[in-house]
Amino acid sequence: MLKIDLNSPAFFADPYPLYAKLRSDAPICPLMPGIWLATRYEDANRILRDPRFGKDFLAGVARRYGTDTVKEPAFQTVNRFMLLMNPPEHTRLRTLISKAFGVKQAPELRHLARREANRLVDGFIDQRRTDLIKTFAYPLPVRVICALLDIRLEDSLRFLEDTQALVKVFELSPIGPAEVHAANRAAQAFDDYFRAVCRERRKNPGTDLVSLLLQAEEGEDRLNEDEIIANVALLFLAGHETTANMLGNALLTLFRHPDQLDLLRGNPSLLPQAVTECLRYETSVHIAARVAMQDIAIGAVTIKQGETVYINLGAANRDPAVFSDPDRFLIGRPELPRKPLPFGGGIHYCLGARLARIELETALDILFRKLPKLQLENIDNPCWKPTITIRGLDYLLAHW
Ligand code: HEM
Repeated sequence: MLKIDLNSPAFFADPYPLYAKLRSDAPICPLMPGIWLATRYEDANRILRDPRFGKDFLAGVARRYGTDTVKEPAFQTVNRFMLLMNPPEHTRLRTLISKAFGVKQAPELRHLARREANRLVDGFIDQRRTDLIKTFAYPLPVRVICALLDIRLEDSLRFLEDTQALVKVFELSPIGPAEVHAANRAAQAFDDYFRAVCRERRKNPGTDLVSLLLQAEEGEDRLNEDEIIANVALLFLAGHETTANMLGNALLTLFRHPDQLDLLRGNPSLLPQAVTECLRYETSVHIAARVAMQDIAIGAVTIKQGETVYINLGAANRDPAVFSDPDRFLIGRPELPRKPLPFGGGIHYCLGARLARIELETALDILFRKLPKLQLENIDNPCWKPTITIRGLDYLLAHW
C-alpha cells in the first residue's frame, strides 16, 4: 500500500517524487472516502474535458463540514463564482464575463503591467535588498487588477489580507471555525465595497471592468449585481494569488538553473518560452476539483456519482508519458507534443491565462533589465507554503 503524506515538510519542499510514484503505482488514488487524486496527464486532460465531471461545491462543503456551514456567507459568495458552476449557468456567466474581460487588448495589458512593474522596482531599487514576494510578486497582479477595475490601490489594501482568508475555503486541508469566520469577514468586505462601486459606475460608467460587466449583454440577458460582485471577487482572487505565487516560483526556478537563466538573460526574446516552461515545471495551481455526475470508469477504478476527483495539474505537467525528461527545466524545449495544463482545460480553462502570461513575461523582463546583478538568497532551502492546492513561496529574499 502506497503511503501518502500530503502534509509533511518533505512533501511541501518537493512534492514531485511522490507525484511520480503516484503516477506509476496509483494514478487514480483514493485519498479518503469519496475523494480521489488523479496524477497522469492523460487522465487529467480527459477529466477536465469530460462533461460527466462537473462542479458540486456546496455539496462538498456539506459533506466535509456539515449542512449548517453551507449557509455561511463565504461559502454562499464563493458558490456564485463561475469557476464553481456547471452548464448552462456556467456557459451563461462565462459568455457575459468574457465579453467584458476580453475588451482590453494585449498591448494595453502589457503597457499596464510594464508601468506597474517599473513603479514597484523603482520603489525598492535603492534598498539593494528585498523580499520579492512581498514587494513585487504580490503587489504587481494586485495593481494590475485594481487598474483594470479602476479601484484605488489603497482601497484594495483594506481587503487584500482578507482575500487570503477567502482562498482558504478552496484548500484541501480542513479549515476550522476561526478560518470560516475570517472568510466570512472577507466576503462581507468585498460585498460592501463592490456594491458601492457598482452603484457609482451605474451613475458614471467608464471603460473599466466593473462598468463593462454592468453593460455586458447577450440577447436580453445581463449580469445581476450579486453575480458581478461575486465574480469580481473571483477575478481578484484568481488573478492575484495564482500569478503572485507563479512569479515567485518562476524566479526561484530560473535562479536554480543558472545555465537557463543566462540563456534567457542573453536572449530576452525567449521570455514567452521561458514562462511556458516555468508554468509546466513549477506551476502555482496544483489542484483542480471535479465531481462525478454519474458512475465513471477510469482504467481499473470506478468513480461513483457524487465522488470528487482532485486533478493534480502539477503532477500531470511532469508526466514522462507526455514530456520527455520532465524533471528537467529546459527553456528551449522542442515544440511540446501536448500542451502542459497549468491553466486547466475544457470549459473552465483559465479566463485570465493571457493576462497571466503578459504579467509574468513583463515582470521578469523588467526585473532582469533593471536589476542585472539580482541574486536570490535562499534558493537551496526556500520557504514553501504548507498548502497543496496553491504552490508558492512565503518569501524570497534577494539582493543586487
Ligand atoms: C499563473 C497564473 C494563473 C494560473 C496558474 C491559473 C490557473 C487556473 C486554473 C488551473 C483554472 C481552472 C480551474 C478548474 O478547472 O477548476 C483557472 C480558472 C480561472 N482563472 Fe486562472 N490562473 C492564473 C491567473 C489568472 C488571472 C490573472 C485571472 C484573472 C484576472 C484568472 C481568472 C480565472 C478565472 C475567472 C477562472 C475560472 C474560469 C471558468 O470557470 O470558466 N486566472 N485558472
